[in-house]
Amino acid sequence: MSKPLFIVLEGIDGSGTTTQLGLLERHLAGRGRRVHPTREPSQGPVGRLLREILLGGHRHADGAPVDGLAMALLFAADRRDHLCREIEPALAAGADVISDRYLLSSLAYQAQEAERDWVAGLARDLREPDLTLLLDVPVATAAERRRAAGRALERYDADDVQARVAARYRELVAADARAAVLDARGSIEEVARAVAATVDRLL
Ligand SMILES: Nc1ncnc2c1ncn2[C@@H]1O[C@H](COP(=O)(O)OP(=O)(O)OP(=O)(O)O)[C@@H](O)[C@H]1O
Ligand SMILES: [Mg+2]
Repeated sequence: MSKPLFIVLEGIDGSGTTTQLGLLERHLAGRGRRVHPTREPSQGPVGRLLREILLGGHRHADGAPVDGLAMALLFAADRRDHLCREIEPALAAGADVISDRYLLSSLAYQAQEAERDWVAGLARDLREPDLTLLLDVPVATAAERRRAAGRALERYDADDVQARVAARYRELVAADARAAVLDARGSIEEVARAVAATVDRLL
């Protein structure tokens, strides 16, 4: 059995990362591996606060939302806490950790509101995933999947924001030797097979 792997799924909202994380968990378990599935924002205290803010909670007295740079700091704080309290212990205990979003999400989303170098600086010394898979779908496809799922509107959901995030994701993956793009326009089963084939090359 190869060493525990840290694998991350990324993509714009509605690209299917949560769906595919569950299927990847089953795939790896079927290979006899112990798997620890997780996600960002995490289930920890900072992650819970972030989720509430993303859904429109925790407004200022005048109704203003939390500042964009402050959000970037919260995402960075959540990631550090998630890594130290959950991801590292799970890897040390011998489990593969698979995460629905990680660093590339900040580099793609928060860099829309903050300077890229500043956002990247917040991630210094962070553990790098063994593999980051970008589930690539057209913005319209992702929006349609969110609509069909009856998903509540979130902070970064506007189509122009999603298009910029998608473009930035592709640039980031192209510059990262341990990241790959997968065409995620196909059926859930087709995408799952592509994810599994890419992951199997690491086992
Ligand atoms: N390949 C696919 N084809 C069609 N529908 C899909 C596909 N993958 C996921 N879906 C559906 O699209 C919806 C969104 O999928 P999912 O929740 O996995 O996306 P997500 O990337 O996690 O979204 P979010 O960023 O909002 O959490 C779900 O209803 C899911 O069943
Ligand atoms: Mg999801």
